[in-house]
Amino acid sequence: MIIPDGRELPKSDQMKLTKEEQSIYDGEQGEVLQKAMEILVALGKIYDAEELVPIRSVQIAGVSYKNLGEAGIEYLEWWVEHNANVQAFSTLNPAGIDLGRWKELGFKEDFSKNQHHIVDLYEKMGIVPTCTCTPYEIGNLPKFGDHLGWSESSAVSFANSYIGARTNREGGPSALAAALVGKTPCYGYHLDDVRKANAVFNVSADISSDADFGALGVLAGRETKKGVPYFKGLPAMRTFNFKQLGASMAASGSVALYHVHGQSPESRAGDMIAEDHEEFDIEGLDEAYEYLNTGGDDVDFVSMGCPHASMEEIMIIANMLKGRKVRSPLWITTSQATSCQATAYGYKDIIEGTGAKLISDTCMVVSPIEDFGYDTVATNSAKGCYYMQSWCNVRTRYGSMRQCIDAALTGRWQK
Ligand code: F3S
Repeated sequence: MIIPDGRELPKSDQMKLTKEEQSIYDGEQGEVLQKAMEILVALGKIYDAEELVPIRSVQIAGVSYKNLGEAGIEYLEWWVEHNANVQAFSTLNPAGIDLGRWKELGFKEDFSKNQHHIVDLYEKMGIVPTCTCTPYEIGNLPKFGDHLGWSESSAVSFANSYIGARTNREGGPSALAAALVGKTPCYGYHLDDVRKANAVFNVSADISSDADFGALGVLAGRETKKGVPYFKGLPAMRTFNFKQLGASMAASGSVALYHVHGQSPESRAGDMIAEDHEEFDIEGLDEAYEYLNTGGDDVDFVSMGCPHASMEEIMIIANMLKGRKVRSPLWITTSQATSCQATAYGYKDIIEGTGAKLISDTCMVVSPIEDFGYDTVATNSAKGCYYMQSWCNVRTRYGSMRQCIDAALTGRWQK
């Protein structure tokens, strides 16, 4: 069987399929469902899944035209031309532009046209065009134990770790296939045993600023790689601290699930440390800060909101900026829905009154930031540093929210 991108998939006869699933697999319910099912069965075969599991929701990555290109558009067009329609509630990852303000912000017309077309294609399949990597902030909020088919590494980490929902780190095509069928192969983080930690981190390093969580994630992600970390010794965490720690480990390793002793839901519910585990001591974070700080002292641009900013973060930033004027451009990226709320509560006016911008739908990594010619970008996102350094050809400065705001106000990085 050949799927739309030209790859040949193996026939599967080892996963247990229900009568309904077998009928989809045999093509009795149309070509779209058959192809989607074949992707899921092929994935199940690779990972030795025994069955499919129904999912509560899907988060679909692979939206920015910068990453998808023409081949990605053709792939999506095939599904739309064949009337594909999702069966699971599905939301969309960030796009490459602010869909409403792209012209004002200097995005190129051709890029923007292609980007709008991509979002339209997803919408035609019944996917809500949320364009955010924090869908749990705006209505795609699973509950403990729910099975999901999510892509987007930071969202996967948050759903697994903070919420205690269950998802593997899907790719764009497998997430779309899961959305179309409403099920995903049951392997990996859908299973109890795989969710136990195999790397225990005893943290004695001083964790006192919000940036320390991202820096810690750099060190822990490198050690854990694809495993499951368990943290001991962390101070009480705010919701956005979980977001920063998880996103950082998803970038420095491929961590999709972690536990924090006494704070994350599964660590509260029972013993989540596997018998066979390694122990690591983290006594300082200097190495991580050195890695993340490659830029100069003059800051050309400041990027906050990676992962997309929550209302709490927007409120904190607005309070820090209130009544001041920025010298370096400052973008705070978030979803359109959160931006609308921030407008209603007056935070957007405060932020934009300083010259900073509250940007929707996109972020500095998936937008074509390299076209703007910046040398040093300051950010409070360790994940952002990883990807901006490698994909966007910029040097980075990494620090706390306070340091990023000071950099925007003065144009200089204050150590
Ligand atoms: Fe989200 Fe973009 Fe960061 S997709 S996690 S804001 S790199």
